Amino acid sequence: MKTPPRLVVLLSGNGSNLQAIIDACQSGQLDAHLAGVISNRADAYGLTRAAQAGISTQLVDHKNFADRESFDQALISTIDSLQPDIVVLAGFMRILTPLFVQHYHNRLLNIHPSLLPRHKGLHTHQRALDAGDSHHGASVHLVSAELDDGPLLAQAVLAIQPGENSERLAQRVHALEHRLYPAVLQAIASGALSLDDRRHHNRPLPASGLRLATQGLALQE
Ligand code: GRF
Repeated sequence: MKTPPRLVVLLSGNGSNLQAIIDACQSGQLDAHLAGVISNRADAYGLTRAAQAGISTQLVDHKNFADRESFDQALISTIDSLQPDIVVLAGFMRILTPLFVQHYHNRLLNIHPSLLPRHKGLHTHQRALDAGDSHHGASVHLVSAELDDGPLLAQAVLAIQPGENSERLAQRVHALEHRLYPAVLQAIASGALSLDDRRHHNRPLPASGLRLATQGLALQE
């Protein structure tokens, strides 16, 4: 039997995506081991969520480091001590150096609240509304050195409703994220989705509720 992958989650805030991953592990929907949760902020509520679930937590505060490179080196040491198979960015609000990204080549995942490549960066929900987009959603991608870039693994899509404001849209996208991230991680854990060979990404994943998309997997609200 395949060993469940070891996940290390990096976050800076609320950690609702972490909670979705914890819940999926506890319910058996995700066959993975949460080896640790790391935050750059002591007040991140995600640390409390992790502690409540009995997961080891560590703080690597960026304010204690002179520059990005030394922060990223400390982060790498902390992460590697947990021996992860996959590093999961879940609301981690620091820009990572190319050295960090290269160190976790094909092992570093991020979730972003837009249908990438549209709306990289912040305020994605308001920007989708301002642009008059008909659809919006969330993307899980492999991390590359560019912000919110790198190969797409999966997207969750919703239709923007007439008169919808950015708060309501943010809530609906967040709810989709909570389904998408565990589903993608389970696709990786089961071997259905290979991070090393993206030619495999178009295989059907009947058990996950994900459907095929040209660039990867997609989930419809
Ligand atoms: C999510 O919207 C995610 O897409 C983005 O940061 C947010 C984190 O939310 N990268 P939470 O902390 O998981 O609630």
